[in-house]
Amino acid sequence: MKGDLLSLRDLDENEILSLLDLSLFLKNQYREIGSNSKCLNGKILGMIFQKPSTRTRISFETAMLHLGGHAINLSSNELQLSRGESIEDTAKTLSLYVNVLMARVYAHEDIEKLSNFATIPVINGLSDLFHPCQILADLQTILEYKQKLKGIKLTYIGDGNNICNDLLLGCSKLGINISVATPVGFEPLDWITDIARTESKRNNSCILITSDPNEAIVDADVVVTDTHISIGKENEIHSREKLFFPRYQVNDDLVKFAKKDYIFMHCLPAKRGKEVSPSIIDGPHSVVWTEAENRLHVQKALLLKQLNPQ
Ligand code: CP
Ligand code: NVA
Repeated sequence: MKGDLLSLRDLDENEILSLLDLSLFLKNQYREIGSNSKCLNGKILGMIFQKPSTRTRISFETAMLHLGGHAINLSSNELQLSRGESIEDTAKTLSLYVNVLMARVYAHEDIEKLSNFATIPVINGLSDLFHPCQILADLQTILEYKQKLKGIKLTYIGDGNNICNDLLLGCSKLGINISVATPVGFEPLDWITDIARTESKRNNSCILITSDPNEAIVDADVVVTDTHISIGKENEIHSREKLFFPRYQVNDDLVKFAKKDYIFMHCLPAKRGKEVSPSIIDGPHSVVWTEAENRLHVQKALLLKQLNPQ
């Protein structure tokens, strides 16, 4: 077992909670003394990007530097991948040089191939299906603000995309009740919802998938949305805007049904005025900057678990 993280399917409840514990410890340590121990000295992270990134790229690179290691940014255009070298051969080659690989890909199959052929741990830095590092940071953010996970209610409004899929897995594994409202035809994939339903039965938590945002958001402790136009979906912008806007926008009218002390989360980048109104994302309930910061801490925890197992 190389300790790959392709989606939150790869972690059980205890492994997630232990990552969150370590992440919180590292966050406090960094805030109190301005550094973490350099226990990844000499370790190298290779980062492959088929798509743009701000948070994932910089937080992974910074995490490695804070822990004494190093990160190499490998845009897929600059690799021989762009000239047809296979993912299999790329994975085998990079495994000879670096200690861990993170990749952001279009097709989830690509990260699965990397995982199958690399002999080092592989981390999904976002694929069309999953974004596990983001959801670990989200779970840490919820824990910090709500002081508990089990029994709370999270509502996701918008596209049944990579964020929604891993939220379903993460919430159901940790006993968080989750309701999802998407336009018809944009629901999360059935096989992912099925896994989440099995996990939630074990935890006595609830899952609701609906097309009605007003129904989904009732009594929510946490309200989450994401762009309606993920990277790679730009050619659907007009048809999607008609379907999603304005019904699936998180705005003042919609959050009236949430709990009074709800928190608002968004993985960013956000389109203000589309999936969320400025009054919400820039308002008093928004925790998006803590959420973005937690990417750094939770990825440090992940890298330490993968590279420094003693
Ligand atoms: N949330 C997130 O993954 O941001 P980037 O696309 O900037 O990496
Ligand atoms: N769903 C978005 C997330 C970006 C971090 C996308 O895939 O583009």
